[in-house]
Amino acid sequence: MPDVAFVNGRFLPLADAVVSIEDRGFQFGDGIYEVLRTYGGRPFEVDAHLGRLDRSAQSLELNQPYPPARWRQLIEEGISRAAYKEAKIYLQVTRGVAPRDHTYAANLVPTTVMTVREYHPLSEAVRQTGVEVMTAEDIRWGRCDIKSLNLLANVLARQRGQKAGTFETILVKDDQVTEGAASNVILVRNGSLITAPEGPRILSGVTRAVVLQLARGAGVPIEERYPARAELYGADEVFLAGTTVEVLGVVKIDGKTIGTGQPGPVTMQLSRRLRMRTGSPAPLL
Ligand code: PDD
Repeated sequence: MPDVAFVNGRFLPLADAVVSIEDRGFQFGDGIYEVLRTYGGRPFEVDAHLGRLDRSAQSLELNQPYPPARWRQLIEEGISRAAYKEAKIYLQVTRGVAPRDHTYAANLVPTTVMTVREYHPLSEAVRQTGVEVMTAEDIRWGRCDIKSLNLLANVLARQRGQKAGTFETILVKDDQVTEGAASNVILVRNGSLITAPEGPRILSGVTRAVVLQLARGAGVPIEERYPARAELYGADEVFLAGTTVEVLGVVKIDGKTIGTGQPGPVTMQLSRRLRMRTGSPAPLL
């Protein structure tokens, strides 16, 4: 099956999907998005993603094209048309098409796009060995809680990370660890989790919320505060949480070994619990 696209009410092959060059998403990054994935053909935490899409829309006074129930139907239809077991679903809503001007009319018709593509999860080997990351200055704007299309700072940070041979780039602002360029960051110290609080400096991840809930259920204490950079290097364990990475152990940061140099027991326990929640096969360890 080819990858599937949906543009403004119509499903079509991805290769044929186009939007206007006067779309405000293209010209200003004036729009919002979500990334979901499926496990065994079922979308994971779809309500949480749609809830965040709604909050992002409201924060930008952007007209939402569909209520959640209609979105859910469209997502299901996209999944069944593409027929991938493991799919990555991308939703995007922009303010719409208008002659280029910074200001906008309130009645613009939003441009709505969805893609459903095959998803190749990270290999089990990477999960078992963990990944190396680097840190970079967090130069993003003051509303990182909105999942907006303005990802230039994230793009540059991740590109630098990739060039340096690392998997992800952890962002640090005023010596406060905020999050990864495309994931949330969670530390383990003396058996407690430490992670940046919800607020304008991070994207409140759907995976982060599920992981914190699983940790609470397992009696693991949680501190929601910004760790300092030195705490990151000195943590017993560090892991990334996100739709694409799930729970992924970090074993080296800026060349410094974290903990034992292997994904730690709390990371592996939460990774297992998340896997059970998603319905994907349990990891080897
Ligand atoms: N990114 N923080 C940032 C900056 C992100 O871009 C993401 C996800 C997350 C994790 O959120 P969630 O658990 O809801 O996926 C945290 C997606 C995958 C992306 O931009 O491709």
